[in-house]
Order: sequence, then C-alpha cells, then structure tokens
Amino acid sequence: MNMTGRKIEIKTKGLSKSFGSVVALDNLDLELATASRFGYIGPNGAGKTTTVRILSGLLRPTSGDASVCGFDIHKGSNRIKAVTGLLPETPGLYSKLSAVEFLEFIGALYHMSDDVLDSRIEKLLSILGLEGRQDDLLESYSSGMKQKVLVASTLIHEPRLVFLDEPTSRLDPAVSALVKDLILALAKETETTFFICTHMIDFAEDVCDIIGILNEGKLVALGSPEQIVSGAGAEDLEDAYLKIIGGKIDREKLLDWM
Ligand SMILES: Nc1ncnc2c1ncn2[C@@H]1O[C@H](COP(=O)(O)OP(=O)(O)OP(=O)(O)O)[C@@H](O)[C@H]1O
Ligand SMILES: [Mg+2]
Repeated sequence: MNMTGRKIEIKTKGLSKSFGSVVALDNLDLELATASRFGYIGPNGAGKTTTVRILSGLLRPTSGDASVCGFDIHKGSNRIKAVTGLLPETPGLYSKLSAVEFLEFIGALYHMSDDVLDSRIEKLLSILGLEGRQDDLLESYSSGMKQKVLVASTLIHEPRLVFLDEPTSRLDPAVSALVKDLILALAKETETTFFICTHMIDFAEDVCDIIGILNEGKLVALGSPEQIVSGAGAEDLEDAYLKIIGGKIDREKLLDWM
C-alpha cells in the first residue's frame, strides 16, 4: 500500500543499468500504484526502454531492486512475464502468419482457452479496424496495421500491467486517438496499470495521470501532469518538458546556426 491506500504495482529502489561506460539508468526510485496510467517521457537515449526491459524481466539491472506486480525482478522474471503485457520498441512479427494466427499463437503462449481467445481476437481486431484483413499474411500489412496487431497481442491476455514502448509510433492520428480511447476505456473498466513510453507529449497529457521525465538516466520530474506544469511554471506539458529538459537551448543553437 502507498500513502493513498492504493496497492503498489511497481516499486524500484536505486535501479541502475550501465552498458560499459554508458550509464543508461541512474538510481531510479519509483513507486506506481495499481491502475496508474504512467507516462514516461524523455529525450532519445534517456533510458526509457532500458527501464521497461528491466521491469518486464528481459534485462538484469547492474544494481538496485524492483518489484513488479508483487514479484521480485531478480527472482520472479517469468512470473512477471506471465502477468504483464509488453509492446516492445522494435517488435518482431511472424510475417508468414495471418493476424488471427499470430494472435492465436500469442494467446496459446498465455494458456488462454479457445473460446475466450476467439472472442478477444474478434473484439480487438474489430476495435482496431482490422476485420476483413484478419486472414491476410502479416507481411502484406502496412507498418501501422502491423502496429495495430502488436497492440492487440499485448492486450490479448488481459494483463494486469501493460508496458507500451512508443505505442503510437507508425500509427496515423486517427488510430493514435483510438489507442488513446482504448487505454482510457480499459482504465475505466479494469484495474489495469499502464506504463507508457512516448515522445507524444499530447498523448501523455491526455492519457496519463502520472508523468515521469527521464533525462540522461535520471528521473528529473514526477507527478500529475498538472503538478509538473505548475511546478515548471509552464503553460502546458510540452512547455514544461522543454523547460525541464532544456530543449529551448537546442532550438536556440539551431536558430543561431541557421
Ligand atoms: N544493448 C545495449 N548495449 C549498449 N548500450 C545500450 C543498449 N541498450 C541501450 N543502450 C544505451 O543506453 C542508453 C539508453 O537507451 P534507451 O534505449 O533506454 O533510451 P530511450 O530513452 O528508450 O531512447 P529512445 O527515446 O530513443 O527510444 C543509450 O545511451 C543507449 O545507447
Ligand atoms: Mg526507447
């Protein structure tokens, strides 16, 4: 339980990861309550994907501890994989399968019963507007259509915690809005916790109730979108982000150069 009495879904203590001399993640202390919609933002190379890979049980930290859904990342990575969903940054797809076959394959990995799986596949493909193309091979899909199938595969087993690493990359604005609505609908109906890495600050502002800003491996801001905006004396989250990260300085450099 945290101070507000909500159960804690993710807790990290001094979580760090180095790759040789590169410090990708530097002493992350983070606590997220169940049913949080966490938006993790920060520049390229800040360490967001590294954090997701550690918390989803795919990568060992150099030091520090974390528990995810009640399981220790050092001892329970398989349990974590079973109860979470992950949309990776650079996912692989089996291009010789159709969307339905791929989703059936993923559902089988999670030991879903045929009935439940069939109805979830039908529902997700229909929400994402892929009915009609569901039996075509994935190699014939556009990149955004593939991304839709991957979003569906992440949600297929109704995970209690979902990691989405750049969910809207490659999606057209209408589908991005749909994914936004899908997350908000799931958040309303279920206790699902969302951990979302994104460069789309508007998306984070609309979807997330807690935002973390990561810069060079360090968590430099954490709070509700309103808290971050007012704390930075900014107009909106994008303005706050640029103030905190110092993006305006880079823009000035560019203008000088031009
Ligand atoms: N497997 C790896 N081997 C070596 N260095 C790595 C590896 N993975 C990540 N890094 C380094 O760790 C740092 C953080 O990378 P990470 O992918 O976590 O950033 P990110 O915040 O997800 O960036 P982006 O917004 O570009 O996706 C970078 O300096 C990157 O080069
Ligand atoms: Mg990344």
